[in-house]
Amino acid sequence: MRSKIPSFIMIPSTLSIIMFMFYVFLGYNYIGHPITISFFVTVTILLFILDTIDDLIFRRKIKFLTEKEKRAIFEENEGNYFFKLYQFIFDDPKKINNQGVKKIDHGFDGIIELDNKLPMWWIHLFFLTIIFSFIYFFSYLFTDFSNPYKEYEIAYKKQLEEIEIFEKKKPQITIENAFFDKKFVDSGKILFEENCATCHKSDGSGNIGPNLTDDYWINIVDKNLYKNIFSIIWNGSQNNPTMRAFGKSGEIKGNDIQKISSYVYFINKKSKKPIKYKEPQGKKIMDWN
Ligand code: HEC
Repeated sequence: MRSKIPSFIMIPSTLSIIMFMFYVFLGYNYIGHPITISFFVTVTILLFILDTIDDLIFRRKIKFLTEKEKRAIFEENEGNYFFKLYQFIFDDPKKINNQGVKKIDHGFDGIIELDNKLPMWWIHLFFLTIIFSFIYFFSYLFTDFSNPYKEYEIAYKKQLEEIEIFEKKKPQITIENAFFDKKFVDSGKILFEENCATCHKSDGSGNIGPNLTDDYWINIVDKNLYKNIFSIIWNGSQNNPTMRAFGKSGEIKGNDIQKISSYVYFINKKSKKPIKYKEPQGKKIMDWN
């Protein structure tokens, strides 16, 4: 007897199921890949051609059989595969099974109930959900599949990587294009407290390092106050290595130095000064650009 399901349907379906299992249990996801899709299309077309050739050979062969044998074979193979599939799934089962519908007599109310069989598609769907629930249950228990914690972890790692790439690609501010902006003051303050407050105090009034809120400066490397600040943070102090080169060493990125410089500039220009501060160091400079 010839196989009922054509191979161009059978083989790709089996392959898809195997691929789905791979995805569920091992996490390999090749399903949407262009190579996979072209592979499936090619295999299906080739198998379709093979099936057609096979059919032709079969038709040739049966010419040599007796009438009776021929009729038996034709009856068995009657109808297109898709038509039969349609009949199998959607048609009234009684028509296929020739059983007739069972009748249930309620008796007391005179109503006769027809006990129709459930359609094939419904029954198959029902079994499919049971099979799927098993697959899902075990893959949830033993693999990362659909585990929300693992999914979160993966997404979180990806996000961090993306941020890192973004930060690397983002052009950093240098001494040439650095500028003061009041909107940087708040974020600059936070960065100052993290990186500088140990030596300058968080209000900039000075500790190991000098008071940054007065008009006295040890280091004068630029005519512009803001650029002078930026430059010292970038290059460090030429005469005291305690004030290290935060920018040059890569410890703080240019964009952050712009924010810190904006904070230092802001507290230096502010008329309200800290009550307690370190005694003046360096030269008094009033005529900044
Ligand atoms: C380990 C202590 C230390 C840390 C941390 C530090 N500084 Fe300094 N800073 C100093 C010292 C000491 C000086 C004085 C340098 C000198 O004598 O030339 C100084 C000088 C400066 C000056 C120049 C002041 C002047 O009068 O010339 C600025 C501006 C400055 N620091 C800003 C910062 C900023 C902004 C940070 C944080 C990114 C920072 N410092 C972190 C110790 C420190």
